[in-house]
Amino acid sequence: MTQKQYILAIDEGTTSTRAVIIDRDGQVIADSQREFTQYFPQPGWVEHDANEIWINVLATMTIAVTKAGIKPEQVAGIGITNQRETTVVWDKNTGLPIYHAIVWQSRQSKDITDQLLEEGYADMIHQKTGLIIDPYFSATKVRWILDHVPGAQERAAKGELLFGTINTWLAWKLSGGKLHITDYTNASRTMLFNLQTLTWDQDILDLLNIPRLMMPEVVSNSGIYGMTAPVHFFGKSIPIAGMIGDQQSALFGQQATAPGMIKNTYGTGGFLVMNTGAQPVYSKNNLLTTIAYSLDGQTTYALEGSIFVAGSAIQWLRDSMKMIPSAHASEQAVKKSTSANEIYVVPAFTGLGAPYWDADARGAIFGITRGTTKYDFVKATLQSLAYQTRDVVDTMQKDTGIAIPTISVDGGATRNNYLMQFQADIMGIPIKRAHNIETTALGAAFLAGLATGFWQDMDELKQLTTTGQTFTPQMEKTTRNRLYQGWQRAVQATIAFKP
Ligand code: G3P
Repeated sequence: MTQKQYILAIDEGTTSTRAVIIDRDGQVIADSQREFTQYFPQPGWVEHDANEIWINVLATMTIAVTKAGIKPEQVAGIGITNQRETTVVWDKNTGLPIYHAIVWQSRQSKDITDQLLEEGYADMIHQKTGLIIDPYFSATKVRWILDHVPGAQERAAKGELLFGTINTWLAWKLSGGKLHITDYTNASRTMLFNLQTLTWDQDILDLLNIPRLMMPEVVSNSGIYGMTAPVHFFGKSIPIAGMIGDQQSALFGQQATAPGMIKNTYGTGGFLVMNTGAQPVYSKNNLLTTIAYSLDGQTTYALEGSIFVAGSAIQWLRDSMKMIPSAHASEQAVKKSTSANEIYVVPAFTGLGAPYWDADARGAIFGITRGTTKYDFVKATLQSLAYQTRDVVDTMQKDTGIAIPTISVDGGATRNNYLMQFQADIMGIPIKRAHNIETTALGAAFLAGLATGFWQDMDELKQLTTTGQTFTPQMEKTTRNRLYQGWQRAVQATIAFKP
């Protein structure tokens, strides 16, 4: 009798790594999660140790397979999804990173982006890559590493160094150094990838003096790219068969595959992505044009509004402010907020993303009085996730002329019912919470499953996705407008104040 098969999804996020075993019904049968170290070497800088991430992947994969009680050969394929933009440069021969991974949130390459802006490259970069010039994207992080590690530029020119985002790093490690690949979605976040030609853009590589030899091969989101090196997977060679940036993975996991469909994921950051179909739509209001996925030679595009701080604000309440014992406790804490005074927390810890793109902004709090309690603080921080989402949704409606009827949401913070209700209230738009809020892992699993014949086609995947609870707006329009205007004033004051 043939043994039951499963898909293993690796979801490598900004603060933790997860390995998830998924069955044919799209259900999670076992998982394992591990947080890893965040390095903040200077204000506004964020770094990771790429080797620690790799060790976490090994550990979580091993624990998940063991917990599931399955044999490693029952894994039909592995799908990788990852925090995007985070940049690793490593030595091809030793396999050692030459510097910490520079995280997407990090502002350390701001001098380089300032120079590009001063020299007038904004339009050229937007036309070619769909992106805004900002330290968020990988390109200037690579430049920063090549500038700061002695001898790196020469070694890169000789082909001794490799560049990758975390998906590339993990595929390289898992395959024992055989695969140096990235997928279309991750490529589209580097600021080095041309959305029209679907290749690395030589003009931008030249502008930033990034040797092409460092760049990975760009592959489809679903396909058998190679096999695991047996030493890294219980002595077995298993197909590495799907790869996709985490926000696009959530879109695919929610099966938002028709133009106009939109999802919001509340992870470390908040990421609103709208499927725009076979043609790229260029924003006039500072949203990003990006690749949603590429399957069988067909590219689907998306518009994205990226919010830099969402779930990490709740982490900040827990770890730095010590106002709540756990993220989960934030929902109870809000119930104790009795203040009639609205306070606003603008969590611009690493600048502001869409639609403001202000790399120098820093967090601010408005309206506190002698009577303000920690519960008010928690409430205002949760509300800031919803206000930021509304900023992006309003912009998206302006850009596309489409009145968005509902938004599908997923990610850890969507467990918080207070936040979900406030989100619906402050936008006046119903919110549909995914039944399986782990849609990020599911997206990568779907792609690996399609490549290996575990699932047959998109129709089969559609049957596996179901919506959970819907939150409908209940707030009076006048209250909604008053609160949102207060938020807008708080954001403008934050932008005006530069520490
Ligand atoms: O663009 C950054 C994004 O991919 C990070 O996602 O889930 O780690 O917040 P997350």
